[in-house]
Amino acid sequence: MIVILLGAPGAGKGTQSAVLSSRYGLTHLATGDIFRAEIAAKSTLGEKASNYVKAGKLVPDDLVTEMVAGKMDVAAGKYLLDGFPRTLNQAQSLDQTLAKNKAGISSVIYLNLPQAEAMKRLTSRRICASCGEVYNVLTRPPKTEGACDKCQGKVEQRVDDSEATAAKRLQVFEDLTSPLIAYYKAEQIFNEVDASKRPEEVTKSVCAVIDGLQVKAGGV
Ligand code: AP5
Repeated sequence: MIVILLGAPGAGKGTQSAVLSSRYGLTHLATGDIFRAEIAAKSTLGEKASNYVKAGKLVPDDLVTEMVAGKMDVAAGKYLLDGFPRTLNQAQSLDQTLAKNKAGISSVIYLNLPQAEAMKRLTSRRICASCGEVYNVLTRPPKTEGACDKCQGKVEQRVDDSEATAAKRLQVFEDLTSPLIAYYKAEQIFNEVDASKRPEEVTKSVCAVIDGLQVKAGGV
């Protein structure tokens, strides 16, 4: 089963992925998390990606597809893709890889959130620099300001969550990623969920989609 979570920056892809990957035994592959880890490790890939990520631009398709190909064992086939694909090129190259392996995408779940709400969530998000736990100063602050509830690590703002860079990322989504909505609708694997509801309600809607797939397939 390969499920793609599609949605604007801040739509809640990471928040939902944390629940879904353990509930359904799916490997969570989040390209943004991988880039941030590579940048922190100062790897060659991290150095190539760094300026794009910091500026809120997309990392070039060839770097992204090569990186994803190295992380995905299509034959194993149980993935939750978060933040990939993000351009038509990436979507087509994923389709080709899957076709070569006689595999396919089970569902694309679009977390639909108005831009203004996405902007509010991005600029109020905070992340633990040590374990990656996601907080929000408006809706889910850590118990002690600046310290992670789970590991006591430093809770800080992501470098690309400043107002200017968040606005840039939302524009990039409109320009380069939103065409994927029509692309996947045409393939009839597209489902839309209202991402403006509370996290638990969003989870319920997403699970309804995945449970429906399992019924059709007779299990994951
Ligand atoms: P990436 O890390 O993928 O960022 P993104 O897509 O911009 O998504 P976010 O992580 O910002 O948001 P999210 O949807 O996961 O929301 P979250 O759950 O955290 O990519 C970063 C960069 O890497 C890109 O800009 C690009 O440079 C590069 N990159 C990555 N993939 C690439 C690719 N395929 N091609 C090229 N470049 C690529 O939630 C946000 C906040 O809202 C949190 O505070 C959370 O607590 C809160 N929240 C979540 N859900 C709810 C809810 N239902 N109600 C209220 N608050 C909520």
